[in-house]
Amino acid sequence: MKGSRNKMSVFETIFKRRTIRSFKQEVIPVEKLKKLVDAARVAPQSANLQPLKYVIINDKELLESIFKTIAWAGYIRPAADPQDGEKPVAYILILVDSEIKKEGYDVDAGSAVENLLLTAVEEGLGTAWLGAIDRKRIKGLLNIPDKYILHTLVAIGYPNETPVIEDEKENSIKYYKDINNVLHVPKRKLEDIVFFNNKIIDN
Ligand SMILES: Cc1cc2nc3c(=O)[nH]c(=O)nc-3n(C[C@H](O)[C@H](O)[C@H](O)COP(=O)(O)O)c2cc1C
Repeated sequence: MKGSRNKMSVFETIFKRRTIRSFKQEVIPVEKLKKLVDAARVAPQSANLQPLKYVIINDKELLESIFKTIAWAGYIRPAADPQDGEKPVAYILILVDSEIKKEGYDVDAGSAVENLLLTAVEEGLGTAWLGAIDRKRIKGLLNIPDKYILHTLVAIGYPNETPVIEDEKENSIKYYKDINNVLHVPKRKLEDIVFFNNKIIDN
């Protein structure tokens, strides 16, 4: 049904978002990638300083070079490494302009990137937010001027897998793949992480 995707509530979108590490090899229109940056651009920012800049990477050769700078899914390496035919088809690199802010930018980046990731879900896209990247290599590959701090990278593409979230079992938050190659992502239970007033339970 036309536009039915947009009927998803914010809450539903939040629950639908999962880190995707297998992508269809379909090109993403540039306007769609710019829309993701647009969503990041208007996120809440400390003192409204907005120190973040974004590099959209969709050049074929660069995609291959950037792929080599990434460490995927540490708990289950190499089981979740994207294979040929399922690699990301775009990236957005998050930069911090150190002339605007030199420290304390992680919260700003978190706020902006989450906007980006959720908008991607709404657009039918899958993402992986990546911190384990070779920043020195990426800086050289993209000729990034020294004033920029390389924060994190978001890998993007149309999803080719459907990971599931589940309540944490046996005190393990480690994601895993089942015999059908489906990724399971344990989340701490609501009742274990929410307290009321002065009733904080240390367990
Ligand atoms: C700041 C940050 C850095 C991350 N870095 C990596 C990474 O380097 N490699 C990777 O495969 N996943 C990375 N992830 C994705 C997490 O592994 C993922 O969010 C987590 O397993 C929970 O899965 P979910 O996103 O589906 O809820 C990162 C996530 C965040 C928020």
